[in-house]
Amino acid sequence: MLVRLFQTRSELITWCRDQASRPLHFVPTMGSLHRGHQQLLRRAAEPVPEGRPVVLLSVFVNPLQFGTGEDFARYPRDLAADAALAAEAGAAALFAPSAEELFPGGEEELTRVIPPSSLRRTLCGPLRPGHFEGVATVVCRLLALVRPDRLLLGEKDWQQLIILRRVVADLALPVTVQGCATVREADGLACSSRHRYLTVDERRQAAALPAALAAASSLWGSGTRSAEALTAPARQVMETAGLAVEYVEMVQPLTLSPADALEGPSLLAVAARCGSTRLIDHVFLMTRPPIVAIDGPAGAGKSTVTRAFASRMGLVYLDTGAMYRALTWWVLHQGVDPADPAAVAPLLEDLDLQLLSGAGGEQRVRVNGHEVSEAIRSPEVTALVSTVAAHPCVREALTRQQQAMGLRGGLVAEGRDIGTAVFPDAECKVFLTATVAERARRRALDLAQRGFPVPERAELEAQIAERDHLDSSRSVAPLRQAADAVELVTDGLAIDAVIQRLVDLFRERVPEDAWPGPTRVQAP
Ligand code: PAF
Repeated sequence: MLVRLFQTRSELITWCRDQASRPLHFVPTMGSLHRGHQQLLRRAAEPVPEGRPVVLLSVFVNPLQFGTGEDFARYPRDLAADAALAAEAGAAALFAPSAEELFPGGEEELTRVIPPSSLRRTLCGPLRPGHFEGVATVVCRLLALVRPDRLLLGEKDWQQLIILRRVVADLALPVTVQGCATVREADGLACSSRHRYLTVDERRQAAALPAALAAASSLWGSGTRSAEALTAPARQVMETAGLAVEYVEMVQPLTLSPADALEGPSLLAVAARCGSTRLIDHVFLMTRPPIVAIDGPAGAGKSTVTRAFASRMGLVYLDTGAMYRALTWWVLHQGVDPADPAAVAPLLEDLDLQLLSGAGGEQRVRVNGHEVSEAIRSPEVTALVSTVAAHPCVREALTRQQQAMGLRGGLVAEGRDIGTAVFPDAECKVFLTATVAERARRRALDLAQRGFPVPERAELEAQIAERDHLDSSRSVAPLRQAADAVELVTDGLAIDAVIQRLVDLFRERVPEDAWPGPTRVQAP
């Protein structure tokens, strides 16, 4: 398939307008495309809940982001080769404007976008003054012309990705930013257009970058945590190979603030000159696989979407609601008064509560040898689970069991107090909710589908409001949105759209390079 080529704004705008019926996904580049760009284009072509996207890339060697003495003049340009590679990777159109076309008023008079200084003062920022301002300015200009639904950027330029996410958020631009994993050569070197500058010897030398990161990773793996003890050996690997090191820094991956002996995930980033060519790379250092906390009121559809999200991200699904339900079932089965904590407490002592995976991957729940997967969804259990779950002794016992289950990380836990009480250090916290009316509508549908009597809508709404009140007003671990949780209101959203939103929120916090998930296979 051939790619459509536009060189003027008016051609571009007309074409973009014609694509209105499909999601438009945009990959900005400076051309000289390589396998990394092609992977970005392939990812951009992947279907989303809104449909099969149409993919546009731009090729523009942006003068605003090059400093004096940098390689603007010699940056490799080959539009014909780029068009062929883009077509092969599934792009529908390519926008390749001249500087006059993109900045018709000239560079001097251009309105500029200045990203926050906290994100510019580490890593490449101090060494490339004006660079990120140039990147933010051109990307905003391109976004304004293209108006895409999704903007895809490589994680290879991690600082750029963090900065552009921030610019998009601060300017409330209506686009979802998606970062994609770094594509590497066989020896580990991250793909870059600048490799074309390297001589054969330099190309061999450049492998010291990934080797330096591997050395730091292996130290991290054996328990080294201080920034100095990790960066010094990485520097040495590069210097020994003859590279001129510009920086080796350890920072917090999302704020980019310098990190020393961080317990959470860290980013170790390097920049070095190989001959006259500047190369950058980084590695994420994690103490454990990520944890996602999904809280929210009853009936917001948490279980369905959380289960699907967990399997899409290759995380274990921890349904804490099912645990409270199983205990409630056991309380009823034992004929104990659910409202009496003194009567419930002894049942916690030898409670054997297990969440298992069934043959078809579905969740099975066992309590003290009883298979209760279906029974815990009955209206009797539903009516009493809040009462049982409000006892401090119950919260304590089940929180302890959940924390033990989460020790190794790599899970999504769903409940009422996951982000606040169970896993306050979760990497990604979401408060999933829906209006009472919407939840009553869904509950009626669910009851009818499972053959239970369906109360009047007003009665269902009253039950849900009462449940919310109980859950949020109990003294121990009340239902509350964690300060660092993102609220996601699911009214009017199809299940697939909610799952996609969770994936996007997760990816804002956890890079693909740190946690690729199960389905990411790199194209050869
Ligand atoms: O990453 C790049 O190639 C450039 O910085 C970008 C995002 C296309 C802006 O010119």
